[in-house]
Formats: sequence, C-alpha cells, structure tokens
Amino acid sequence: MKKYSFLFPALLLAFAITLQGQPMPDEIKMKNFINELMDKMTLEEKIGQLNLPGSGDIVTGQTSNSNIGLRIKEGQVGGLLNLKSVEKIRDVQRVAVEETRLKIPLMFGMDVIHGYQTTFPIPLGLAASWDRTLIEKSARIAAQEATADGICWTFSPMVDIARDPRWGRIAEGAGEDAYLGSEVAKAFVHGYQGKDLSKNNTMMSCVKHFALYGAAEGGRDYNTVDMSFQRMYNEYLPPYKAAIDAGAGSVMSSFNEINGIPATANKWLLTDLLRGEWGFNGFVLTDFTGINELMEHGLGDLQTVSALALNAGVDLDMVGEGFLSTLKKSFDEGKISQATIDQACRRILEAKYKLGLFDDPYRYCDVNRAKTEIATPENFQAAREIATQTFVLLKNEKETLPIQKKGKIALIGPLADNRKNMAGMWSVAVKHDQSVTVLEGFKEAVGKKAEIFYAKGSNIVDDPKLDEWTGSWGEPGIDPDRTPAQLREEAVAVASKCDVVVAVMGESAEMSGESSSRSDISLPGSQRVLLEALLQTGKPVVLVLFTGRPLILNWENENIPAILNVWFGGSTAGQAIADVVFGTVNPSGKLPVTFPQNVGQIPLYYNHKNTGRPLGEDEWFAKFLSNYLDVTNDPLYPFGYGLSYTSFTFSDLKLDQNKLTGNQTLKASIDITNSGKYDGAEVVQLYIRDLVGSMTRPVKELKGFQKVFIKAGETKTVTFDITPEDLKFYNYDLKYDWEAGDFVIMAGGNSRDVKSAQVNWLK
Ligand code: NOJ
Repeated sequence: MKKYSFLFPALLLAFAITLQGQPMPDEIKMKNFINELMDKMTLEEKIGQLNLPGSGDIVTGQTSNSNIGLRIKEGQVGGLLNLKSVEKIRDVQRVAVEETRLKIPLMFGMDVIHGYQTTFPIPLGLAASWDRTLIEKSARIAAQEATADGICWTFSPMVDIARDPRWGRIAEGAGEDAYLGSEVAKAFVHGYQGKDLSKNNTMMSCVKHFALYGAAEGGRDYNTVDMSFQRMYNEYLPPYKAAIDAGAGSVMSSFNEINGIPATANKWLLTDLLRGEWGFNGFVLTDFTGINELMEHGLGDLQTVSALALNAGVDLDMVGEGFLSTLKKSFDEGKISQATIDQACRRILEAKYKLGLFDDPYRYCDVNRAKTEIATPENFQAAREIATQTFVLLKNEKETLPIQKKGKIALIGPLADNRKNMAGMWSVAVKHDQSVTVLEGFKEAVGKKAEIFYAKGSNIVDDPKLDEWTGSWGEPGIDPDRTPAQLREEAVAVASKCDVVVAVMGESAEMSGESSSRSDISLPGSQRVLLEALLQTGKPVVLVLFTGRPLILNWENENIPAILNVWFGGSTAGQAIADVVFGTVNPSGKLPVTFPQNVGQIPLYYNHKNTGRPLGEDEWFAKFLSNYLDVTNDPLYPFGYGLSYTSFTFSDLKLDQNKLTGNQTLKASIDITNSGKYDGAEVVQLYIRDLVGSMTRPVKELKGFQKVFIKAGETKTVTFDITPEDLKFYNYDLKYDWEAGDFVIMAGGNSRDVKSAQVNWLK
C-alpha cells in the first residue's frame, strides 16, 4: 500500500482540476508544454500572441509575402479575425508554423452567430423555440460546418439580456429573461464545444458581450450602462455565468461602461468577478477596437488605456493594436509587469493547446471536409425544421391560419421575394443565392394545387438615406421604377383577384443587429399603408412579419386577422414559412421578449417589481398609482406568449404539499389538454413569486419550462420539481440564498395567463 501512496495526491489533482464541463486535457502536460515554450519566447513574441488583427486581403498561396504574412513571420499575430475559406486558412497557418521562429499556430475566429453557410434563424428567433435540444443542434451544425472551413473559434453566444427593443442587437440574444437566457446560453456552448474541444468538428465559444451591453441607455448602441449590483447579479449576469459554467473557453469584453468604468478596463468585472468569483480559466478578448475606444471614453492615451486593459484582465486585443504598439514601452516604464504579460500569453497558448492546434495545426483545414460537410441537404433540412419551431403566432382570428392549398393566393410585400433578407443580420458565411424566398417556398408547397400571385407592394423603407443605411447588404432596396403608390396599386390589383392575401413585411435584415437602433419601432416605410389598402379589398389578410426585435403592432393587432412573427428564419426561411402557413407544422414558438404597446412604455418586462403603488389587475388608471394617463401598463403581447392552431386548456395547478421545510422538493403539476383539432406543442412555463423578502422581489420569475407535444384531444401532465435552489436570489449584500416564507407558484402558457397556488417554505 505504502509504495502507491504517492499516486493518490497526483490522481486527486488530476480529478480535481476540471475544465468546466470539458474533459480534462492532461493539465500538467499542458502546463509543462507551455512553460517550455514560454521559456523560449521573447517579450515581443509574448506580446505578439496578444494581438488579433483583422485578416486583411489574403490571397491563397500568397500569404507569405502579404502584409499580414510578414507580420506573422515577425511574431506579431496570435490569431486572425473573420478569415474565410479553408484554403486561405491553411495557407496562413502554414506561414505561422513553418516560417516563424517558434512555429506557434494561429487561432482563427469568426462571427458564427446563427449557423455558418447553412443559416438558422437569428438568435432571438432560436430562443423563441424554447427548445434546448434544437438550439444545441443548430450550434452543433454551425460548428461542424465552420470547422470544416478552417474556423476553430466563434464569437458566440451573445447572452446580453435586453429589455429595450430599440436596441438593434436585441436580435442577437435570447431576450429579456435571465433564466431563459441561461438555458439558451448553455445550449449554444454545448453545441459549439461538444464534449471534446480538441476534436476537429468542435470549436471554442466566446461569451459576449461581457457585460451588460444590452442595458445601453435609450437602446442606443454602445451607450452608457449604470446599474445596481443587485439588479446586475439577479437579472443580467446569470446567462454569462451559465455559459462559463458550461465551459465556454473565452469571453469578450463589451463596449459599454459600467458604473463609470468601461468593461474593457474594468478590473472588478474581468478579474474579481469573472475569475475570482466565477472561476473562469479561459481567456478574455476585447471587442473590435475596444481598447482604442477607451480613449474616447476619456481614460487616457493609447499607452495608458492598453496598460489599463491588460491590468484589468484583457488577454487579447481585437484589431486595435494597442497592446502590440505600447505594451513593451509600458513594461519598460514599470506600468505593467512581466507576470501580467506572461499570464495573458499563457491563456492564449492554453486555448490553442485545448483546441489541439499544437498537435496538428491543420486540424481544422481538411479541404475534403470543406467540400462535403458544408451546406449539405441534411443541414438545410435541419435548418428548415428548426426554423418552423421559432415562429410565433401572435394572432389568429377565426382560424384564418393555416390557409389551404387551393384557389388563388396573393403573396404581397417587400420581403416575399427577397433572397438577401432571409438569413438575417450577422450571417457572415451565408450564400444568399442558396436562401429560399417565401415565394419559392410557397410555390414548392402548393405545387399544382393552388395558384400563387406575387406583387412587391411596397419598398421596405422609402427614405433613400435609411435605405442606404439599412439596405440589403449594400444593394439599394427602393424600387427604381415605380413609386410607392404604383407599387401599392399593383398589389391591390393582384390581391383583388385572389381568395386570400399573405402579406410578407417587416424590417430588412440590417435594420437590427449592430448599429441598428431605432427610436420608432413600427413597421417601416409605407408598409402600413399597403396593409390598409390590402384590407380594403375585403380579402382575408395574413401578416407574415420579419423582424429582429419587438415591433409596435397595435394597429396590426387590431386590424389584421392573423399575424405570424417569423423573425429572420435563415437559409430555408421560405420553406419553413410555407410549412407553417399551410399547416404542415403547427406553430409553437413563444416570445422571449415583451412586445410593448408603444415606445413610451419601454423598458417593459414581465419580471418587474411591484412598486409601493401597484395598479390593480385589469385597471388602466387610478390617481396616485403607478401608471400612465395615455396607455395601460400592459404589453401588447407578454413574455412567453404565442398561439397555436390548436387550443390548450390548463387545469388548476396542483402542489403535492403546501408546507415544506429545508431541502425538500415540491412537485407542482398541471394538466394540459389539447382541446382543439390539431396536434401541437405547448411550452409550459413555471413562474415563482417570493411574497416577502429582505429586499423587494419581482412579481414573478421564470424558473422552468417544458415543451410538450400533445395530440388533439389528449391530456398530458407536466410536473416541475422545485427545490430551494429555485428560490435563491442575490440579496442586498449580494449573498446568494433563499429566504423562508410564502411563495406563489404559477404555471401556464405565457407569463400573463397562469394558474397559481401558494406554498409556505421554512428553513
Ligand atoms: C463587433 C461586435 O460587437 C462583436 O459582437 C463581434 O464579434 C466583433 N465585432 C467581431 O466581428
């Protein structure tokens, strides 16, 4: 026994060090390897590893003599941003591992945000599926395709909680809720990274934008954030933490300031919280020129801000070159230490090690894979199926939807035959010519059973300036030949001869995403006028709505009989929309974010506090209560809302006990009957309210959800196991714990319409 005792501590150590969700590459072997390598590195070479330039104009076969090639040879590059194609990446990697002194491979990162060449719905749409498995599958396919094309690292998921639909980047996240956001974040990370990061078909994920980027004042991009720590910890930080706990290998600092210190220079954020409290052991990179922007924030010159960022915990400088051009000087002047540079360099090298790049720098550069694994029919089929699960049926009066495949169908609108706008923002690898339009999807779906008549009907926007700023990837959208009135006339003529009108309208892809904040979030341009004209034909009108954010839809909700919100559905949007419009698939998406009645209500979110003067239910106004004179406090469509072609009836909520103590488990069950005539899926949502606390608590908080498929006429019981873990929150002292007392447990098909029961839970 004695002679083996030395093995025990070593084994224990090996087990103890776990790579947050990843199987452990031999940590000690890695450390030794990197120690040896770093012993050989000059200070300049170490600083070079901290530099992530843009890829410039690389021509396959000529990298060696290109500007970037020369810099790689000088040891000034740690990785490259947004370089596309396996041939180019192979070529660049060859320079790094064959023509540099230490042969350190490069990392290749890209914004693979919602799919690669096979594009899935925008992230806000994916979140609307409330389906963890499907979201993970979309990320898995994205990783499979991107790694086949040379990419080993993606700048995704974006997990910024957003409660302000004016902010264009709300499209890139999972909406307003910390619990849903955390579930979505985990699914993305698992999908991208798989179980083994060193495999050639998994890629490292990057959680962004750390932190609170979605809370920009006024919904204006890059704007200031000022927030209490209690709100941060309870309502905004959980999805970042969930992604990190799921093993995300890197974190991107955000552009915004937080309480006076920009995230990229924020030591509390990037070191104390991220590493100290959360135990993150990957690397931190800035957002695009994030360090340089610290100068605009007013923190000093480039040398000062670069040192600030490094000392705060940034390891990699995206594009700005502040690290490369100033860190040596700061080191010589004693403003940064050798240990801090070593630490950052080590983190970058460790990431490369975990990706298996030191074993085989061409691991992600298999030209055959690029030919056979990208944009396959199977991936397109998966994208189509996933897209159908993300659409949210907002209204369906008199069963206007689904429509039948018969007679004459008018397909009207600026997005009905618009290939470039199907994929949505941030689809860097999409090939637009592969995207399926709604017109094509409809024609394929009806075959000879019905006739489809198309008219554009309107521009997306009529203002040339706005068209230039938000056009279809540089292409003008405004019709050069016809005025808005002429377009409308044509459409009305088409609609008048048909049995039903499907209006495909909304925002262009570039009206949401980065740098696309809007202060007026109604249907753009003259689309509303077109809708009015179509309604006047007396034909039933269905609105198929493209959007990257909640829009103000009061008028549409009042006047249009059926509204199907399809976000931006990705490469196969046209087919997926046809699947749902014609009833092959019954919609089951639920809103991950509240749709307000008007912009003045913003921020409007379901998990708000009660105030000391709450308005009673179904009330509009009462003097000296918390309300508006000119609009009720209600949203147009609440968080979690979404209809189905069938109807679901919820029983009362049953609790297996109503007095609990300590770590017991409460079982809350509810029966859901499919009381309509179509089979369909319902997302059953669990909310909890903590009635009395040491600090104020939200009126309800999402704590669980299950998506269940129920055949017409059948009933299913859904049970949630609730433990004290679900009651915990960060109290005023930021201690994470639960407090004994009374709780209201709620379940239902959206955040507004719930069945509830009360429970008393003591410590
Ligand atoms: C800026 C964006 O904010 C970020 O999300 C993205 O990953 C980088 N640009 C790189 O393209």
